[in-house]
Amino acid sequence: MKVLDVSAIKDGSVIDHIDSKSTLKVADILNIQNEEQVVLVGMNLTSKFLGKKGIIKIGGKIIDQKEVNKIALIAPNATVNIIKDYEVVKKFKVAVPEVIEGIVKCFNPNCVSNHHKIETKLHVVSKNPIRLQCHYCERIMNSKDIVLI
Ligand code: CTP
Repeated sequence: MKVLDVSAIKDGSVIDHIDSKSTLKVADILNIQNEEQVVLVGMNLTSKFLGKKGIIKIGGKIIDQKEVNKIALIAPNATVNIIKDYEVVKKFKVAVPEVIEGIVKCFNPNCVSNHHKIETKLHVVSKNPIRLQCHYCERIMNSKDIVLI
């Protein structure tokens, strides 16, 4: 029998296979404290692939592309499941896009994007490990430099 570590939801989004240590960062991206419907968070659950994983279930919410792009930067192995009437109706793995616009701050304090009202733009030069190059100042950032907007 299949027993769920965190109970099933009727409608909403399930973010599964989060690297356990990144679970609360994903929770921040999804702004779960402002949700009005059921939110379930599991951490250090057993996973065949990751050893330990995190999972976040949000009732009544379909997560949007911007949120998926942010999650991909923090939890590259995450899977998104959309649930309708207790069934998984859509399942996909998050993916880092080629260009990241408006979601990551450039870490160079002198970059023009930190001084003028322009949307940040970074080119993904490597996905694993993640390396991003600022479109404006051309500085290269690693995962430790990433600050989400
Ligand atoms: N889930 C849920 N509520 C439902 C249906 C599914 O919370 N009504 C969750 C499950 O707990 C699981 C995820 O959605 O974490 C995906 O469900 P399913 O595809 O049935 O599970 P697995 O086959 O284990 O998924 P995967 O192959 O992606 O590991």
